[in-house]
Amino acid sequence: HRHLLGIEGLNRLDIEGLLDAADAAVDVSRQVEKKRTTLRGRTQINLFFEPSTRTQSSFELAGKRLGADVMNMSVASSSVKKGETLIDTAATLNAMRPDIIVVRHQSAGAVHLLARKVDCSVINAGDGAHEHPTQALLDALTIRRNKGRIEGLRVAICGDVLHSRVARSNLILLQAMGAQVRLVAPSTLLPAGIERFGVETFTDMRKGLDGCDIVMMLRLQRERMNGSFVPSVKEYFRYYGLDAEKLSCAAPDALVMHPGPMNRGVEIASEIADGAQSLIREQVEMGVAVRMAVLDALSRHLPNG
Ligand code: CP
Repeated sequence: HRHLLGIEGLNRLDIEGLLDAADAAVDVSRQVEKKRTTLRGRTQINLFFEPSTRTQSSFELAGKRLGADVMNMSVASSSVKKGETLIDTAATLNAMRPDIIVVRHQSAGAVHLLARKVDCSVINAGDGAHEHPTQALLDALTIRRNKGRIEGLRVAICGDVLHSRVARSNLILLQAMGAQVRLVAPSTLLPAGIERFGVETFTDMRKGLDGCDIVMMLRLQRERMNGSFVPSVKEYFRYYGLDAEKLSCAAPDALVMHPGPMNRGVEIASEIADGAQSLIREQVEMGVAVRMAVLDALSRHLPNG
């Protein structure tokens, strides 16, 4: 593959290959000398139209650990603010001959569009409510390292599924790897007709968590609820916030995940986020490794790669 635009289009072997490479990248990142030369001489541009802490910084570190020259475009202080379009911005950056552009954009499909307009490899770092493929890969790596497998696990994805590219990418990946995925959310935050994708849905969180091996929480994305129903935080936490009592409905050795950023006291209690069953910090570490694996894999398809 020349680009990574989504989990859709990857098969089980592609995913397993990336996870194996990411396992090796974890070992590299844990060494004192972290620098490799795979991307030496290559230019990587990070182009983020939406805020990011984890994804942007881990793509920067991943590129640098592989020896690339990494440039972070500051969209907030760019000519986008003067009305330059996404496509003109992409064409301008393309003229500077990057090898890889990592893009986050608020509109679903924007990254696919951009990929058709440039000569380099493009990685989707999140496009609207569509896909966030490297998040799903880092979640899968975290699960595999802690449970030893993905196949056959019961995974509950809970909360604001409707607005979540993380939920969508995870659903596709986890099903491809043979996990049983359940969605747990108020009916207003579940996409219409989602059962068609072979997924069970629950509006009662205790029933939804029953026997689950992995409880994956999602942020309530109030910024994407323009005009639609916005639940009150207090009510939301009462019915859909993960606390010790609701977590006790899952399997005794269940593990808790959250892609971040978290809203403590909204979708997750602090005692759970920081508790013994939480993998949230480990997910962040796996993020760098997965991005190293993805950059490395795409670099093989670059001219003279
Ligand atoms: N999980 C995730 O994408 O986090 P950021 O928005 O901080 O990159």
